[in-house]
Amino acid sequence: MEINLWLRPVLNNDLPIFFTQQKDPDANQMAAFTSRDPSDQEAFNSHWQKIMVSDTVIIRTIVFEEQVAGYVLSYLDEGKPEVGYWIGKEFWGKGIATRALAEFLSSANTTRPIYAHTAKDNQASKRVLEKCGFCVIKEMIGFANARGKEIEELLLVLNEF
Ligand SMILES: CC(C)(COP(=O)(O)OP(=O)(O)OC[C@H]1O[C@@H](n2cnc3c(N)ncnc32)[C@H](O)[C@@H]1OP(=O)(O)O)[C@@H](O)C(=O)NCCC(=O)NCCS
Repeated sequence: MEINLWLRPVLNNDLPIFFTQQKDPDANQMAAFTSRDPSDQEAFNSHWQKIMVSDTVIIRTIVFEEQVAGYVLSYLDEGKPEVGYWIGKEFWGKGIATRALAEFLSSANTTRPIYAHTAKDNQASKRVLEKCGFCVIKEMIGFANARGKEIEELLLVLNEF
C-alpha cells in the first residue's frame, strides 16, 4: 500500500510536537532506553539544540498526510553510526516507521555498516529494523531508564546500501 509520507529537515516548530510524542508513557515503556526524565523540557531543549547543529547527526522530520508523525535520525555512538526513530502514538501501526527508515537509509547521507539498539521485547522496533535489512548481531543487558532496571537489549547491523 502506498503511504503518503515524506522526510524533511527539522523545523523549530516540530520540537513541541516531538516533546509531546516523547513524553508518552506507552512509548517510553516500549522504547525503554530513554532519557532519564522525558517530561524535563529544559533537558529536551538542550539535547535538541545540540543535535540539530551537530555535524555528525542527521535528523529528518517524518511528515505523514501533512502532519508531523515523528522523526528518524542517525548519530555516532562511540564512533559508530547508529539509527533511531520515534513515532507519535496516534500514527502507530500504519507502516510509517518502516517506510521512513527505508527512505532515510536510501536518501540521507548515511554510511555502512550502520547499527541500531533496541529493547529485546520491543517487537515493533525489531520488526522495523529487520524489514529494512538489519540483522541481530549481539544480545546484551543494559539499564533502561523508563523501566528503572536492567533489561535485555539487541544490537543490530545493516551492512548493505
Ligand atoms: C517502534 C515504532 C517506531 C514502530 O512504529 P510504527 O510506525 O508503528 O511501525 P510500522 O507500522 O512500520 O510497523 C512495523 C512492524 O512492527 C509491527 N508492530 C507494530 N506495532 C507492534 C507492536 N506493538 N507489537 C508487535 N509488533 C508491532 C507491525 O505489525 C509491522 O510488522 P509487519 O509488517 O510484519 O506486520 C513506534 O511504535 C514508536 O515510535 N515507539 C516508541 C519509540 C520507540 O520504541 N522507538 C524505537 C526505539 S529503538
